[in-house]
Amino acid sequence: MKHLSIRFAKLACAASAALVLATLSALAADAHPPRMLIDLTRPGIPISPTFYGLMTEEINHSYDGGLYAELIQNRSFKDDATRPLHWSLVGAVADGSIALDETQPINAALTTCLKLTVPAATSGRLGIANDGYWGVPAAPTTTYRASFYAKAGADTAGPLTLTLESADGHTVYATAQVPQLTSQWKRYAVTLTTGNSAPDNHARFVISLSQPGVYWFNLVSLFPPTWHDRPNGNRVDLMQALSALHPAFLRFPGGNYLEGKTVDSHFPWKQTLGDLSLRPGHAGTWGYPASDGMGLLEFLEWAEDIGAEPVLAVYAGYSLPNDTNHAGTVIPAGPALAPYVQDALDEIEYVTGVTNTPWGARRLADGHPAPFSLHYVEIGNEDFVGDARRTYNARFAQFYDAIKAAHPALQCIATIPVTSRVPDVLDDHYYATSGEMMKLAHKYDHYDRSKPKIFVGEWAAREITRVTPDGQTAYNRMPWAYKDSPTPNLHAALGDAAFMTGLERNADVIVMNCYAPLLTRVEPAAFQWNPNLIGYDSLRSYVSPSYYAQQMFQLHRGDTVVHVSMSADPTNFFFSTTLDHATGALFVKLVNINPTPQIVQFAISGARQVAGQGTLTVLTSAHPDDTDTINDPVKVVPVTAPVDGLGASFTSTFAPYAISVLQLQTQ
Ligand code: AHR
Repeated sequence: MKHLSIRFAKLACAASAALVLATLSALAADAHPPRMLIDLTRPGIPISPTFYGLMTEEINHSYDGGLYAELIQNRSFKDDATRPLHWSLVGAVADGSIALDETQPINAALTTCLKLTVPAATSGRLGIANDGYWGVPAAPTTTYRASFYAKAGADTAGPLTLTLESADGHTVYATAQVPQLTSQWKRYAVTLTTGNSAPDNHARFVISLSQPGVYWFNLVSLFPPTWHDRPNGNRVDLMQALSALHPAFLRFPGGNYLEGKTVDSHFPWKQTLGDLSLRPGHAGTWGYPASDGMGLLEFLEWAEDIGAEPVLAVYAGYSLPNDTNHAGTVIPAGPALAPYVQDALDEIEYVTGVTNTPWGARRLADGHPAPFSLHYVEIGNEDFVGDARRTYNARFAQFYDAIKAAHPALQCIATIPVTSRVPDVLDDHYYATSGEMMKLAHKYDHYDRSKPKIFVGEWAAREITRVTPDGQTAYNRMPWAYKDSPTPNLHAALGDAAFMTGLERNADVIVMNCYAPLLTRVEPAAFQWNPNLIGYDSLRSYVSPSYYAQQMFQLHRGDTVVHVSMSADPTNFFFSTTLDHATGALFVKLVNINPTPQIVQFAISGARQVAGQGTLTVLTSAHPDDTDTINDPVKVVPVTAPVDGLGASFTSTFAPYAISVLQLQTQ
């Protein structure tokens, strides 16, 4: 039997070198390591091509102030009915004033605008400034696209100067001019290009002038370059991170964001279509309003841009409890629910219909002639809450019957078990500590295979590492009690990975799964939930150990779970072994949750040949409470190194506190 050796030279981090040293002492200590027998002669379990995906909703400023690249907060002045939040007067207060004005609507969507009054000639500039989402980012040598609606009290007025500048106004990074306004509402668009100055995370955007008069503004917008250069598009760094996960699907628009806290505030997909000037926005669910710049078509194009298929969640007549109504609001099955069922059918037609259907034609008009490929529709979200549970059976049946009648091939996902119909798929959600997620790794081992297939539509190990005021780190198992750590630590990632081994081993039951939530701003005031997979501020972003765990599993998914038997009950580690038939690549994923290395003897049967060389990818760190942060984004990262000494039988050692993927080549 050979012993696997790691080539030091290719290892990029000190943690990995430490692992090898630990290995040598562990080898001496563990005389009877467990034996893993990998049997390729048996057929194995096919893994669904949609196995790993993403779940998203507007929470933690996932879109507004996040992925959706708009930089102006409260661009349509509706975020607060009493004052122009995030807007301020530039110039001396004595020289002018700003106020919300509802007497000058542009249309039924843009009903409130900002009025700037400049009573007399001023020697300095007068204007309006927006401080963005925790700062407007000013990146060097970057072209920004600005646009706004404006009109003046006089027949002509101007010029207007647009600047991207430091918060104190002392440094101007980019400037542009709009020569003239008229007394009619009109949209203006210009570009601003920054020079080679240092990045500023807390800049502001200013529109200013020096003429006395009255001016009105609405839908003031500023975009950086976007992914695929899409107008009204997404942040490039975040799309890169999402794309690098190679997700098979994108579940949207929620989550609780689908449902809203009142019936009126559920995701209003029809109001999110078309030109931005026609989108009124809505209340959102997580304590801040939604601009709906991320509308239904933007969700679909986002999925398209990262090669994922949409998993569409439709509103099913239940909205969440708010402060005064702890049961939530239910639209009962029957005639009252019928308009919502029709709304879901319209939505499905918008996504999938050819262009001679009414909603397919609308999608064409919105700029996307080709229908999107859709296989799964989820009816509601978490209907175990409040009054949802006792009413879901009948509500599900009404949606199911209508959807199946119109689209027999669509798979209907139920959010809780139902008896009224047999759902195609059931959505299970798990939020738990890392230790609990490790136990949940066995949840589906004894699942009744005659029951519906499972979509684990939200899951996460909820553990974080806090930085306390004295600069010490504290390991925390109740992240919701603290608002200072937006993303999970390595210990959470170990729980996630252990859980994923259980999902993979039960791939005959699990057809899809996705972590949640996906995105978060890092400023404590900006997020409502932790931990989340990917964090960012205005200019920077980073990914968490849990992100890397998922990426390691997805990139080494294979198409079949192979048959494995162990000589001893593995209580200390979690594993799954998969094969890619097309390439012969065999992936052994092993999660060692202990502070000591884990030795495993391998024997592979059923392969004509097993190559001596392979690779080992390891995600580990010195302490399980180590984590990645916006200021230290590469503290915990996976390292891939070549290994040799592999074959039909060999011994391998897996690092402590580590997620490891050993890739072998079989023939
Ligand atoms: O992921 C955060 C929330 O958790 C989702 O909106 C909801 O579905 C679940 O309760």
